[in-house]
Amino acid sequence: MTTQKRPERRLTIDLVAAARPNFMKIAPLWHALKTRPWARARVVHTGQHYDYAMSQVFFEELGLPAPFVNLGIGSGSHGQQTGRVLEAYEAHLVRERPDLVVVVGDVNATPAAALAAVKLHIPTAHLEAGLRSFDRTMPEEINRLVTDTVCDFLWTPSADADENLAAEGIPKERIHRVGNIMIDTLIMLMPRFKQEDILQRLGLREQGYGVLTLHRPSNVDSREKLSVLCDLILAAQKRLPLVFPLHPRTRARLEEYGLLSRLEVPHLHILPPQPYCAFMRLVSAARVVVTDSGGLQEETSYLGIPCLTLRNNTERPITLTLGTNRLVRPDTLLAELDSALATPVRPKDIPLWDGQTASRVAEHIQTIFC
Ligand code: UD1
Repeated sequence: MTTQKRPERRLTIDLVAAARPNFMKIAPLWHALKTRPWARARVVHTGQHYDYAMSQVFFEELGLPAPFVNLGIGSGSHGQQTGRVLEAYEAHLVRERPDLVVVVGDVNATPAAALAAVKLHIPTAHLEAGLRSFDRTMPEEINRLVTDTVCDFLWTPSADADENLAAEGIPKERIHRVGNIMIDTLIMLMPRFKQEDILQRLGLREQGYGVLTLHRPSNVDSREKLSVLCDLILAAQKRLPLVFPLHPRTRARLEEYGLLSRLEVPHLHILPPQPYCAFMRLVSAARVVVTDSGGLQEETSYLGIPCLTLRNNTERPITLTLGTNRLVRPDTLLAELDSALATPVRPKDIPLWDGQTASRVAEHIQTIFC
């Protein structure tokens, strides 16, 4: 009988997460690395999202360990958030140098942590690399461009992402297509979220309502735009009941602009931010989703739920070509909603949206470092 030799020293890997959508992206990778004898993953929480409902509840549901370190960055302007992560994470890296840093998504911490690491010559990887909206007014687009420029390993979800990187002159040795990590999380937690009782609690029936989320500065940070959107929401809830979990940014703006009370109508369920499982239960049984989120365009495409995205562009074009997503403007929203309610959708299989992305990433890390 041969016994497998345990590596003398395990590879220390920092998984950096800052905000709600990041927790869903590091969780499958943390679980995949936990089972690899050569790896020691550590969760680094920058603290951008700090409320129980925006952070801790996701750690609990996703089975993530308490963070190895919380940098306590909190809220602030883009410059403040980026600068604070750069300074605090650099200090952490100097004290607790890992062998590899993994950053995810496109939030302010993503380029900041990547910059801190590469300047200390620590190998750094970006999970969900190569997405481009080609809209430089979006803070996330700038974050993506900076991150992909500096990282050593670019783990992409789809062929369009590889093409974007190649078009920017990034050598193909740095690009590795691994698949969509968010779908790993969705598949991992599907048995759990199917048991959630949120529909009963809200008195909703399957396929009998829509889900609405809004949080992009371009939609919620102007009184005029948000007021127009409120009128549209009021018109839409006459067509079918809507569930609207409010992001803290959106709640703050609605209150500041005196719009929240206008939304107190019978067919609009305004909720606090929802935990992952309750929210995915709501989405998976919805007739339609209206959103400006990035991740929801993917989750609805996988689940075969029509998605109307209130944005001029998307960094996830595969959700338009192979998924269930349509870009809508305020002036086309109601017509698109009627059309979505009238037309059944038939999603196709999207390559590498299979729940195995974290395993492919773990294998790639092993090939490079072990
Ligand atoms: C950030 C990301 C965005 C991502 C979103 C998901 C950037 C540039 N943006 O936007 O890409 O889609 O997260 O939610 O990084 N707040 C709370 N409690 C919290 C966290 C924030 O009340 O736990 C408040 C803040 O005080 C602030 C507002 O929510 O007023 C927005 O938070 P912020 O960190 O600026 O980013 P998001 O809008 O959440």
